[in-house]
Amino acid sequence: MIVLNKDGMLIQKEQDVVPFRNRVKEYAVKIGMSLVNQTKLITAASELVRNMLKYGGGGNTLIEVVSKGRENGIRLTFSDKGPGITDIQLAMKDGYSTGKSLGLGLPGAKRLVSEFDIKSIPGSGTTVTVIKWKNG
Ligand SMILES: Nc1ncnc2c1ncn2[C@@H]1O[C@H](COP(=O)(O)OP(=O)(O)OP(=O)(O)O)[C@@H](O)[C@H]1O
Ligand SMILES: [Mg+2]
Repeated sequence: MIVLNKDGMLIQKEQDVVPFRNRVKEYAVKIGMSLVNQTKLITAASELVRNMLKYGGGGNTLIEVVSKGRENGIRLTFSDKGPGITDIQLAMKDGYSTGKSLGLGLPGAKRLVSEFDIKSIPGSGTTVTVIKWKNG
Protein backbone atom coordinates (compact mmCIF):
# COMPACT_ATOMS: atom_id res chain seq x y z
CA MET A 1 0.00 0.00 0.00
CA ILE A 2 1.32 3.41 -0.99
CA VAL A 3 0.22 6.65 0.71
CA LEU A 4 -0.14 9.34 -1.96
CA ASN A 5 -1.40 12.16 0.24
CA LYS A 6 -2.25 12.71 3.87
CA ASP A 7 -4.19 15.19 5.91
CA GLY A 8 -5.43 15.33 9.47
CA MET A 9 -8.08 17.02 11.55
CA LEU A 10 -8.59 17.26 15.29
CA ILE A 11 -12.15 16.57 16.42
CA GLN A 12 -13.01 18.15 19.74
CA LYS A 13 -16.58 19.37 19.39
CA GLU A 14 -19.79 18.77 17.45
CA GLN A 15 -19.00 21.73 15.16
CA ASP A 16 -15.88 19.91 13.92
CA VAL A 17 -17.99 17.16 12.31
CA VAL A 18 -19.24 19.00 9.21
CA PRO A 19 -15.82 20.41 8.20
CA PHE A 20 -14.39 16.90 8.61
CA ARG A 21 -17.11 15.37 6.44
CA ASN A 22 -16.49 18.04 3.80
CA ARG A 23 -12.75 17.33 3.83
CA VAL A 24 -13.36 13.59 3.35
CA LYS A 25 -15.71 14.38 0.48
CA GLU A 26 -13.08 16.64 -1.18
CA TYR A 27 -10.54 13.81 -1.21
CA ALA A 28 -13.09 11.29 -2.45
CA VAL A 29 -14.04 13.62 -5.31
CA LYS A 30 -10.35 14.26 -6.05
CA ILE A 31 -9.68 10.57 -6.71
CA GLY A 32 -12.84 10.25 -8.79
CA MET A 33 -14.79 8.04 -6.39
CA SER A 34 -18.35 7.31 -7.52
CA LEU A 35 -21.15 9.22 -5.81
CA VAL A 36 -22.50 6.00 -4.29
CA ASN A 37 -19.13 5.13 -2.74
CA GLN A 38 -18.61 8.72 -1.61
CA THR A 39 -21.91 8.56 0.23
CA LYS A 40 -21.02 5.22 1.85
CA LEU A 41 -17.63 6.50 2.96
CA ILE A 42 -19.02 9.73 4.36
CA THR A 43 -21.82 7.92 6.20
CA ALA A 44 -19.29 5.55 7.81
CA ALA A 45 -16.99 8.48 8.63
CA SER A 46 -19.84 10.34 10.32
CA GLU A 47 -20.65 7.38 12.57
CA LEU A 48 -17.00 6.89 13.55
CA VAL A 49 -16.38 10.56 14.22
CA ARG A 50 -19.55 10.73 16.33
CA ASN A 51 -18.45 7.74 18.39
CA MET A 52 -15.08 9.37 18.91
CA LEU A 53 -16.79 12.51 20.22
CA LYS A 54 -19.46 10.77 22.29
CA TYR A 55 -17.43 7.94 23.83
CA GLY A 56 -13.81 8.94 23.30
CA GLY A 57 -14.10 12.60 24.26
CA GLY A 58 -12.83 13.63 20.84
CA GLY A 59 -9.64 12.67 19.09
CA ASN A 60 -7.60 12.81 15.97
CA THR A 61 -8.42 11.87 12.40
CA LEU A 62 -6.19 11.06 9.49
CA ILE A 63 -7.35 11.21 5.88
CA GLU A 64 -5.07 9.45 3.41
CA VAL A 65 -5.20 8.82 -0.30
CA VAL A 66 -3.82 5.32 -0.74
CA SER A 67 -3.08 3.08 -3.67
CA LYS A 68 -2.66 -0.67 -4.00
CA GLY A 69 -1.97 -2.11 -7.41
CA ARG A 70 -4.06 -0.04 -9.76
CA GLU A 71 -6.75 0.70 -7.20
CA ASN A 72 -6.94 4.06 -5.42
CA GLY A 73 -8.85 4.69 -2.24
CA ILE A 74 -9.32 6.73 0.88
CA ARG A 75 -8.10 5.51 4.26
CA LEU A 76 -9.52 7.16 7.37
CA THR A 77 -8.09 6.70 10.85
CA PHE A 78 -9.91 7.77 14.01
CA SER A 79 -7.93 7.67 17.22
CA ASP A 80 -8.99 8.72 20.68
CA LYS A 81 -7.57 8.46 24.16
CA GLY A 82 -10.92 7.68 25.74
CA PRO A 83 -11.92 4.75 27.97
CA GLY A 84 -11.57 2.18 25.18
CA ILE A 85 -13.83 -0.82 24.48
CA THR A 86 -13.54 -3.94 26.65
CA ASP A 87 -15.45 -6.30 24.35
CA ILE A 88 -15.00 -5.36 20.70
CA GLN A 89 -16.96 -8.37 19.45
CA LEU A 90 -19.95 -7.18 21.47
CA ALA A 91 -19.52 -3.55 20.39
CA MET A 92 -19.58 -4.69 16.74
CA LYS A 93 -23.01 -6.35 17.15
CA ASP A 94 -26.10 -4.73 15.65
CA GLY A 95 -28.10 -3.14 18.44
CA TYR A 96 -25.42 -3.04 21.13
CA SER A 97 -25.14 0.40 22.70
CA THR A 98 -23.95 1.71 26.04
CA GLY A 99 -25.25 5.13 25.02
CA LYS A 100 -28.98 4.37 24.81
CA SER A 101 -28.72 4.70 21.05
CA LEU A 102 -29.43 2.33 18.13
CA GLY A 103 -26.10 0.52 18.34
CA LEU A 104 -25.73 0.50 14.58
CA GLY A 105 -22.80 2.86 14.15
CA LEU A 106 -19.88 0.42 14.21
CA PRO A 107 -21.51 -2.54 12.41
CA GLY A 108 -23.12 -0.17 9.91
CA ALA A 109 -19.80 1.56 9.20
CA LYS A 110 -18.12 -1.83 8.67
CA ARG A 111 -20.71 -2.78 6.05
CA LEU A 112 -20.25 0.49 4.17
CA VAL A 113 -16.48 0.35 3.66
CA SER A 114 -14.07 -2.01 1.87
CA GLU A 115 -11.79 -2.67 4.85
CA PHE A 116 -12.45 -2.11 8.55
CA ASP A 117 -10.13 -2.45 11.52
CA ILE A 118 -10.72 -1.61 15.17
CA LYS A 119 -8.19 -1.74 17.98
CA SER A 120 -8.87 -0.71 21.51
CA ILE A 121 -7.05 -0.82 24.80
CA PRO A 122 -9.34 -0.41 27.82
CA GLY A 123 -8.25 2.63 29.79
CA SER A 124 -6.08 3.82 26.96
CA GLY A 125 -8.13 4.48 23.82
CA THR A 126 -9.54 3.30 20.54
CA THR A 127 -8.34 3.42 16.94
CA VAL A 128 -10.59 2.63 14.00
CA THR A 129 -9.19 2.46 10.48
CA VAL A 130 -11.30 2.10 7.36
CA ILE A 131 -10.52 2.01 3.64
CA LYS A 132 -12.94 2.66 0.82
CA TRP A 133 -11.56 1.73 -2.57
CA LYS A 134 -12.61 3.95 -5.43
CA ASN A 135 -14.27 1.04 -7.23
CA GLY A 136 -14.80 -1.25 -4.26
N1 LIG B 1 -14.46 5.46 20.34
C1 LIG B 1 -15.08 4.73 21.26
N2 LIG B 1 -14.61 4.69 22.55
C2 LIG B 1 -15.23 3.94 23.48
N3 LIG B 1 -16.33 3.19 23.26
C3 LIG B 1 -16.83 3.19 22.00
C4 LIG B 1 -16.25 3.96 20.96
N4 LIG B 1 -16.98 3.75 19.83
C5 LIG B 1 -17.95 2.91 20.17
N5 LIG B 1 -17.89 2.56 21.48
C6 LIG B 1 -18.76 1.61 22.19
O1 LIG B 1 -19.34 0.72 21.26
C7 LIG B 1 -20.75 0.78 21.33
C8 LIG B 1 -21.34 0.55 19.98
O2 LIG B 1 -21.04 1.65 19.10
P1 LIG B 1 -22.05 1.97 17.91
O3 LIG B 1 -21.56 3.16 17.19
O4 LIG B 1 -22.25 0.72 17.14
O5 LIG B 1 -23.42 2.28 18.67
P2 LIG B 1 -23.88 3.60 19.43
O6 LIG B 1 -22.91 4.72 19.19
O7 LIG B 1 -24.12 3.23 20.85
O8 LIG B 1 -25.25 3.90 18.72
P3 LIG B 1 -25.45 4.58 17.26
O9 LIG B 1 -24.10 4.72 16.63
O10 LIG B 1 -26.34 3.63 16.51
O11 LIG B 1 -26.08 5.90 17.55
C9 LIG B 1 -21.05 2.13 21.95
O12 LIG B 1 -22.31 2.18 22.59
C10 LIG B 1 -19.90 2.27 22.94
O13 LIG B 1 -20.13 1.52 24.10
MG1 LIG C 1 -22.26 5.19 17.31
